[in-house]
Amino acid sequence: MGKNKFENLDKLKILPNTGGNGQKIYIETYGCQMNVVDSEVVAAIMTDNGFSISENLEDANIILVNTCSIRENAEQKVRQRLNDYKKYKKKDKGILIGVIGCMAERLKQKLLEEEKLVDMVIGPDAYRDLPKLVEEAGSGQQAINVLLSREETYADINPVRLGKNNVTAFVSIMRGCDQMCSYCVVPFTRGRERSRDPYTIIREVNDLIAKGYKEVTLLGQNVNSYIWENKENNRKISFASLLEMVAKTSPDLRVRYSTSHPKDMTDDVLHTMAKYDNICKNIHLPVQSGNNRVLENMRRGYTREWYMDRIRAIKKILPGCGLSSDFITGFCDETEEEHKDTLSLMKWAGFDFAFMFKYSERPNTYAERKLKDNIPDETKSRRLTKIIELQNKLSLESNKKDIGKTFEVLVEGVSRKSDERLFGRNSQNKVVVFDRGNIEIGDYVNVKITECTSATLKGIVV
Ligand code: 5AD
Ligand code: SF4
Repeated sequence: MGKNKFENLDKLKILPNTGGNGQKIYIETYGCQMNVVDSEVVAAIMTDNGFSISENLEDANIILVNTCSIRENAEQKVRQRLNDYKKYKKKDKGILIGVIGCMAERLKQKLLEEEKLVDMVIGPDAYRDLPKLVEEAGSGQQAINVLLSREETYADINPVRLGKNNVTAFVSIMRGCDQMCSYCVVPFTRGRERSRDPYTIIREVNDLIAKGYKEVTLLGQNVNSYIWENKENNRKISFASLLEMVAKTSPDLRVRYSTSHPKDMTDDVLHTMAKYDNICKNIHLPVQSGNNRVLENMRRGYTREWYMDRIRAIKKILPGCGLSSDFITGFCDETEEEHKDTLSLMKWAGFDFAFMFKYSERPNTYAERKLKDNIPDETKSRRLTKIIELQNKLSLESNKKDIGKTFEVLVEGVSRKSDERLFGRNSQNKVVVFDRGNIEIGDYVNVKITECTSATLKGIVV
């Protein structure tokens, strides 16, 4: 690459306008934050090619559903939604329906056979091909591209933000996943792990700052294994260095990231977090189970003790840091005792927040091929209820400790319950609600906490 790191990228970005003829696209997004950015990448590719984005399904000529395969019920939701689309197709036979994202990648051609109304199937690494595929589908051909790539990071594409607020944005820093946890479909749907050129990340962040955004969340399946090798000087940029580069763009920009893998969560990242006030003090560290045998079967690459050591390091280097996690109940062979190990770990760590799921067997994963999905659904549900109850208690305890404290809050929007109230988040990622006054969305305000529930903090602006 020449002197100007972005020279080639600018050339790439001005894609030839293949003439979408102003056709309107409606994009519906399911699944994780990564899918949210991917929809924004798709919106950028399509608008660069003469299409426009519609917020209204009724007005659209093309419907794209960005899908998730993580659990069986995520796929069911999409199938139901496809059923809803039938009425639009009936009204106007010219409407094109595309399934994009993880389900497209997992099911490939089968999706075109099973869901007759689907015209296009496009995997997560094939979005640049969308304008061409729309053209093909428009002329009555089956349009499919589910090739996975070892290089594609959409680094040159500046996502068109589809979010409702202009305050917070997601920035993708890598794609794919090499972890191969035994239960997980992601390595199959999103392919091999690859990191995005850090200079393009910084350029995107600077562009967001120029547009008035106040917070970015750096996204990857396992951000701790981010690595970029600069071929010119053989310098390697780790996640900790990238985090520092982003934090330095502006002291007024909040920086978050997700998701971390306990196996790769190193102290250098924690020290970088401690060094910069604008890196939010919150870590999402999915543990999945508190039992070593289950962790081994899940092929997570760490033990309970290792995880506890990482939590201790976080509490020491970053006192007061928000902590959240993910849990799966009823994984293959999980005994009652092993489930209790998860409960005891939760209590020990005192998580502020958690995402909790029943194990859902996914086709072609190691667990599906080699282990037995032998925990009855009632048992999975009972254990799930148990951990949800415990987490609610832990969240409430954690929130109660915040009463009387004052936090800096970035205002994100109007409270769902009342127009007279606004909400935002503190550095620890807790939702804080307060009276509107003459505060604007996007402002930083200091809020003194006066009351709480297990889900939110409430307070007064000081
Ligand atoms: N069944 C249930 N939960 C799963 N997750 C991933 N795969 C599965 C599965 N097969 C959960 C994990 C992960 C989160 C994103 O989804 O907890 O961290
Ligand atoms: Fe995101 Fe995983 Fe769902 Fe794909 S399968 S959308 S990576 S959560």
